[in-house]
Amino acid sequence: MPIIIKSDDEIAIMREAGRIVAEVLEILVAGVRPGLIVKKLDRIVQDQFERRKVIPTFLGYLGYPARVCVSVNDEIVHGIPGDRVLREGDIVSIDLGATHKGFVADSALTVGVGRIRAEGQRLIDVTYQALWEGIRAARPGARLGEISHAIQTCAEAHGYSVVREYVGHGVGREMHEEPQVPNFGPPERGPILRKGMVLALEPMVNIGDWRTKKHDDQWTVSTLDGSLSAHFEHTIAITDGEPEVLTLRSDEQPLLARTAATAAERRS
Ligand code: MF3
Ligand code: CO
Repeated sequence: MPIIIKSDDEIAIMREAGRIVAEVLEILVAGVRPGLIVKKLDRIVQDQFERRKVIPTFLGYLGYPARVCVSVNDEIVHGIPGDRVLREGDIVSIDLGATHKGFVADSALTVGVGRIRAEGQRLIDVTYQALWEGIRAARPGARLGEISHAIQTCAEAHGYSVVREYVGHGVGREMHEEPQVPNFGPPERGPILRKGMVLALEPMVNIGDWRTKKHDDQWTVSTLDGSLSAHFEHTIAITDGEPEVLTLRSDEQPLLARTAATAAERRS
């Protein structure tokens, strides 16, 4: 299967899809608190997506029974929102996809519930940083492996491991298109990036080792060793220059502003 290049018009639609996913993720994060029953998050998505007239991409995908994935503590990805109650100190990963005018946007984040331990906060911070190291590497002419390598290097430099069995992906009319985007591997690997590719980068980072186990529900994936795991994901478009983050939230700086800020910090 080839990598499908998107036109500027198609990317404009994906930008709208990305904005909707970002806005709804922000609403979900605002709802996270001790005592929340996680399936409430699925109801919020149902309500918000109806209003915004977008389709919940995950619902029915290979039989997945919900609109959002909610993965708590040692759960890595694909947690089904059910009767579980969030408790102070949990860390919760929320993964959301929307289909808008035939195109998909996909994004995820991990947040703490109330006050959390420093150990969990550090994992969250490093996983977020690893995602942005991957985004920074996503330039035309570079190899896909440079993204993978940047993510892995960042996570492992902090003593964490990156999950191997689940990876990022191309995204467009389908949620999962070519190419796969591993969160590990050498920089020389993979296709050359070019303008019009749209990728979902999604590091899943564990405090312990990278091995996983699947629950009896056939969806929820946890760390094999029971250690905490965090997950961040953005849908990005490769451009002539800096990648465009289509699922950027209002609390986030685009790459250009970040790079400038880092350079200014270095000078001071
Ligand atoms: N972001 C996840 C992925 O790319 C979400 C898929 S959940 C599913 O695989 F239920 F739809 F599979
Ligand atoms: Co994804």
